[in-house]
Amino acid sequence: MTHLLHLDSSPRGDRSHTRRLTSEFVQRWRAVHPDGSVTYRDIGRNPLPHVTESWISAAFTPPNQRSAAMQCALRLSDELVDELMKADLILAGIPFYNFGMPSGFKAYIDQIVRVGRTFAFDPANKETPYAPLVHGKRMIAMISRGDGGYGPGGRNQQYNHLDPHLATVLRFIGVDDLQIVAAENDEYGGADLVNSLESARRQLHELASEFKSHPQEVVGLNRVS
Ligand SMILES: Cc1cc2nc3c(=O)[nH]c(=O)nc-3n(C[C@H](O)[C@H](O)[C@H](O)COP(=O)(O)O)c2cc1C
Repeated sequence: MTHLLHLDSSPRGDRSHTRRLTSEFVQRWRAVHPDGSVTYRDIGRNPLPHVTESWISAAFTPPNQRSAAMQCALRLSDELVDELMKADLILAGIPFYNFGMPSGFKAYIDQIVRVGRTFAFDPANKETPYAPLVHGKRMIAMISRGDGGYGPGGRNQQYNHLDPHLATVLRFIGVDDLQIVAAENDEYGGADLVNSLESARRQLHELASEFKSHPQEVVGLNRVS
């Protein structure tokens, strides 16, 4: 049985393009995977806490030496990591904010990038101290941007710090199969927005269908890996 983890990180409601498009993906995915299961987490409307001093000291204390308070400090992070580990496919709706990821999604990343759980660290190994601990997962990021031209070769590509950051941090924990689907021009509206949303919708529709029939094959997408 395939398991999908669906995350939405836009604080907006009905006006959110990422929210609408991820919801359409899930509808299609459920139709193609009638025996699949979905976990939904709305981190846009229910923001996650930032990491704190007690979180950090607990995370860097070996599990068998953690006090009850330390275990408590990591409870939500453990739950989020367990949720991630259960998923075969992760779908995340991510708004493009100030040239990068919104703080709500960054809070999620900080909660799931965990030493001993999603990456290993061996300070004695000077050559390759870090090793990813997440394997065999794919991720689709549905990103919406207000301006245009942030894609490969576009006039704003150099200001797009979200795609490369996301690819780097996911690769660090072992999620190296990332597909980015982007909609642009929210701030302008009109035909450019409509066409961009339609293109994103088509790509997501293909992806939701493809995962069943050609699990190794991804076509026509802005793929970062
Ligand atoms: C706080 C904030 C910062 C934004 N920064 C940018 C930006 O740097 N570049 C850009 O093209 N659009 C920017 N936008 C526009 C959003 O990317 C756009 O509205 C997008 O559609 C948001 O995703 P959503 O529709 O799922 O909420 C920003 C919007 C907000 C609210």
